[in-house]
Amino acid sequence: MTRDDGPPTAGSRNAAPYTLLAEGYDTVMEHVDYEAWADYVYALLMEHHGAVRSILELGCGTGSLALALQAYGPFAYRGTDGSEAMVKVAQRKARAAKIPVTFTPADFRDLPPLPPVDAVLLLYDGLNYVLEPSEIATLFEQVYRALKPGGLFVFDQSTPLNSLNHPDGFDDAGRTEAFEYLRTSRYDPATHLHTTLFRLGVDGQTFSETHVQRAYELAEIEYLVAHSPLVRVAAYDGFSLDPADASAERIHWVLQKGQAGASAEK
Ligand SMILES: C[S@@+](CC[C@H](N)C(=O)[O-])C[C@H]1O[C@@H](n2cnc3c(N)ncnc32)[C@H](O)[C@@H]1O
Repeated sequence: MTRDDGPPTAGSRNAAPYTLLAEGYDTVMEHVDYEAWADYVYALLMEHHGAVRSILELGCGTGSLALALQAYGPFAYRGTDGSEAMVKVAQRKARAAKIPVTFTPADFRDLPPLPPVDAVLLLYDGLNYVLEPSEIATLFEQVYRALKPGGLFVFDQSTPLNSLNHPDGFDDAGRTEAFEYLRTSRYDPATHLHTTLFRLGVDGQTFSETHVQRAYELAEIEYLVAHSPLVRVAAYDGFSLDPADASAERIHWVLQKGQAGASAEK
């Protein structure tokens, strides 16, 4: 399949996001340094908590971050994702690596009852898949319920600048063991919606997966945090420990479920 094969959806059948993509996701994402991301996340947990023994990861995908974080364990670790196909790949990887991480399907806007944890994680654009701010408010409530008092929520957000500054940065084509793919994306500055179209060639057939994300401004998430039951600890620019401002492309947030009588805000 090449970029000259015509409009991305012509002659293809639609598949739900992260169904067919799951089996080749790790190859499509092989540019992502999950070890470095795990180092950064663990540094944030140490900086703001110090004794994390239990972790719930939301939107864990194929479990790459979860497995990389085990270098810092042991943790009681559960990874969850809304896509059963992604969870299946994560389970297979954990079995193959003989790493005792539990992976189960769950929509992070409607989590099942789980034992409370020291830290909840949601990384690499999971939040951007939530298209309505009211649903982010629901997510924050779900996370509050999932945390122990004093527990942390670490998540990232991609901002409109990330989409605007890299107009072609998300387009590519390639081949995995499961499919060949063509990825094209477009960003609409009016709606802040970033749409990525994966055209997947599987066994001679062509499928399309359309992924829609919403790029949020720092101020939008600040507002939602301020109106949530969680307490703001920090918002960092990129993978640094510098405070994020309106020029950030990716922001890592640290929120806390406050302890009675303690203030987490910095
Ligand atoms: C870009 S992928 C990132 C996956 C993983 N965190 C990583 O770093 O590779 C976004 C993930 O969020 C998941 N996701 C999106 N909306 C979700 C929801 N409402 N509940 C649970 N998972 C969701 C998708 O299924 C997908 O696996």
